[in-house]
Amino acid sequence: MDQSTIKTYRTVAAVQSAIGNARTLDAALREGLRVMASEMGVESCIMWYADGHDGRVLRPYFWLAIADFTQRRVTSGVGVVGRVFESRCAERLLDYRPGADPTTEELLVGHELRSMVAVPFSTLQTDLGVLQFINKTDGTPFTDEEADALEMLAMLAALAVDESEELSEPKPVGEAIIQVRGVTREYVNGDNVTKVLKGVNLDVYEGEFLVLLGESGCGKSTLMNIVAGMDAPTSGSVEFCGRQIVGATQSQLTEYRRDNIGFIFQSYNLMPNLTARQNLELIAELVDDPMPADEALEVVGLSNRKKNYPSQMSGGQQQRVSIARALVKRPRIIFADEPTAALDYSTSIEVLQVMERVVATGTTMVMVTHNEEICRMADRVVRMRDGRTHEVTVNRVRVGATDLVW
Ligand SMILES: Nc1ncnc2c1ncn2[C@@H]1O[C@H](COP(=O)(O)OP(=O)(O)OP(=O)(O)O)[C@@H](O)[C@H]1O
Ligand SMILES: [Mg+2]
Repeated sequence: MDQSTIKTYRTVAAVQSAIGNARTLDAALREGLRVMASEMGVESCIMWYADGHDGRVLRPYFWLAIADFTQRRVTSGVGVVGRVFESRCAERLLDYRPGADPTTEELLVGHELRSMVAVPFSTLQTDLGVLQFINKTDGTPFTDEEADALEMLAMLAALAVDESEELSEPKPVGEAIIQVRGVTREYVNGDNVTKVLKGVNLDVYEGEFLVLLGESGCGKSTLMNIVAGMDAPTSGSVEFCGRQIVGATQSQLTEYRRDNIGFIFQSYNLMPNLTARQNLELIAELVDDPMPADEALEVVGLSNRKKNYPSQMSGGQQQRVSIARALVKRPRIIFADEPTAALDYSTSIEVLQVMERVVATGTTMVMVTHNEEICRMADRVVRMRDGRTHEVTVNRVRVGATDLVW
C-alpha cells in the first residue's frame, strides 16, 4: 500500500469515529468535516444543502472557512457548486486559473482560489447538497488521489445523515448590520512587524447572538476593538449599516460609539464612588434617548441594589451593573469581551441569563469567550485562528443559560 492510500484509510477511520461519537446529526457533520479538513490539510470547506422549500437553492449549512458564507446562496446549475448539485457529478478544478469561473470566484470572497474539489452530498434516498473543498493550507493543489478521497469521505458523511433524523432548516437571519471585509491589523515596533489580523471577513446580523472563540492572542479583542470603533485597522473595511467607519474622524467615531455601541469588559470599570444607579445616570446624560436607569437595572435583575456602591456588590452583580450601563444607551449592538472570565460558575450563569434577556429585547450581541460550553447559547459561533476567522457554525437550537454546565 502506498503512503497516500494509507493516509486515506487513516482519514476515513478518523472521520468515521468522529461521526460515530457525535450526539447529534449537526455535531456529526461538523466533527466529520473538521477531521476531514484537518487530516487533508484543507483551507476551507463548505457544506451546501438544498433548502426544503425550494430545492433549486443551496444554502451553506456549515463551513470551515476564512470567509463568512451565512447569506451566500447558490442556484442549482449555476457555478461549480450549482452544476455539481444538478448533475450529481463531482467537479475538480485542481489547478485553478483566476478568471476561469467568475460565478464561483464571486461566491468565494476572501479566497484566492487556487484549487477546488466539489462533490455531491447525497444519501441513498436524497440529494442533500454539495460539499466544497477550497485550497490546501500548504499552498499545493489537490492531487487526484486527494480528490478521490474527498469524494469517498463525502459519501461517508452522507451515510450519517441517512441513519439519522432530517437536517433541520436554519433560522432566518436579519440584515447584516456589520460587514467586515479584508481587515488586517499590524503592530510595528522598530523593525518588527507583528501581523495580528490577516484578512478578516465577517458579517454580524441584526438581533443575533454571536459568540467569538479562539486561542489567546489570535486577535479577538483586536477585532472587537476595531469593529467597535476604538481602534483602526491597517487595511480593510468595516461598515456599520452601510456606513464606512474606517477612516472616520475621531469625533465621528465618538458619535458612532455613543449612538450605537455598548461595551462590556472582563473588568467592570464602575465608578467606585457612585452607586449602581448613579453609574448608569452618568452615561444616560450623554445620550439622546436613554433607557431610564431604573428600567435598565430591572432588566439585569438588580432593582433592589440601586443604592449600592460597587464595593457592596459581588463580582456578578457588578458585572450586571456594567451590562445595565451598556443598556442605558439603547445600543444597536453590544460587544462583550470575556464578561464571565473573572466569575465563578453560578455567577457566570446569572450574567449569561442577563445576556440572554438582553438579546431577547432585540439587541445584537457579540461575545468573546474561552468557554466552549457558552457556544451552545449562541445563534452563531465564529472561531478565529491566527488572525483569521476559521470556522463558523450555526446553532439550530439555542441552549438556555441555565442548562449550561461546566
Ligand atoms: N500594542 C500592541 N503592540 C504589539 N502587539 C500587540 C499590541 N496589542 C496586541 N498585540 C498582539 O496582538 C495579538 C492579539 O491580541 P488580542 O488581544 O487581540 O488577542 P485575543 O485573541 O483577545 O487574546 P486573549 O484571549 O488572550 O484576550 C497578541 O499576540 C498581542 O500580543
Ligand atoms: Mg482578548
